[in-house]
Amino acid sequence: MNQEYTAIKNQIDRALEQLIRQDPANPLAEAMAYGISTPGKRIRGVLTVYFCRRLSVPEEQAVPFAVALELIHAYSLVHDDMPEMDNDAYRRGLPTCHKKYGPALALLAGDAILNYSMEYLLSHRSLYRPEPFLRALEALYQAAGSGGMLRGQAMDKIGESHALSLDELFLLHRLKTGALLSAPIEIASALSGTRNENYVNYCRRIGLAFQIKDDLLDVEGSPAVLGKETGRDSEESKSTFVSVMGVNEAKKALAEELEAATAAVSDDPFLCWLAGYIGKREK
Ligand code: IPE
Ligand code: IPE
Ligand code: MG
Ligand code: MG
Ligand code: MG
Repeated sequence: MNQEYTAIKNQIDRALEQLIRQDPANPLAEAMAYGISTPGKRIRGVLTVYFCRRLSVPEEQAVPFAVALELIHAYSLVHDDMPEMDNDAYRRGLPTCHKKYGPALALLAGDAILNYSMEYLLSHRSLYRPEPFLRALEALYQAAGSGGMLRGQAMDKIGESHALSLDELFLLHRLKTGALLSAPIEIASALSGTRNENYVNYCRRIGLAFQIKDDLLDVEGSPAVLGKETGRDSEESKSTFVSVMGVNEAKKALAEELEAATAAVSDDPFLCWLAGYIGKREK
């Protein structure tokens, strides 16, 4: 792993650990902690801190948004794995939240993690000027909401009952995964009051690439390394890049997105490294 990536990831992991409150009197606390602290790559949080650095946003303002974005991502995974969604038994190398705590507690833990992301940000509001803070909140919750990630998740379910067209599939991936991977630059832009179109472009490209790679890993990955079962997309009749265009064309599409991502930020070694990592990742 790249050193800068690891350093930022450690910072985010520490902040996530600190917010976890074990409370034996609260039946939700343990299931929430499980959804949050299981070992994720924290790529969305790392990108948030990284873009904030590039756009001169103070670190203390960047980290709470990085943490909140990782919380939203964590809740999305808890719900994504549930029987009514993808019905998965393993995540991040461990039993999924509903396998461990049952569907009702997993559902509520997901809701509670999403709610807590807002409580957490509001508790840090004194660090920000009001207008940039509200714009960053708007960017984050729009990305997560019914026009962003959740719209993509709904399309993903519809894609089980009939094969999606290629255009629909691009939109689905840009929403269900791309929206939360573009949130880092949208947050950094809102907090800094500046906008770098190359970064925006980069995020659009890696967002799509990240999900194409996820589709490929479901076919070609190793369950032990991935930390989740493979072959699940075809078992659930998902419309994926692999089901719609086949492995070879999906790999070409992945390479195209990553090339375009790299071209947008060719003077930035960290972002070029990250694009390469997304193409080569095994988990
Ligand atoms: C998994 O995301 C879900 C997708 C959008 C493909 P990640 O691969 O970033 O999951 P973690 O957080 O590292 O476990
Ligand atoms: C997940 O996509 C996207 C989310 C919004 C959580 P997948 O359903 O393909 O992710 P995995 O394969 O379960 O990690
Ligand atoms: Mg899914
Ligand atoms: Mg899934
Ligand atoms: Mg998948």
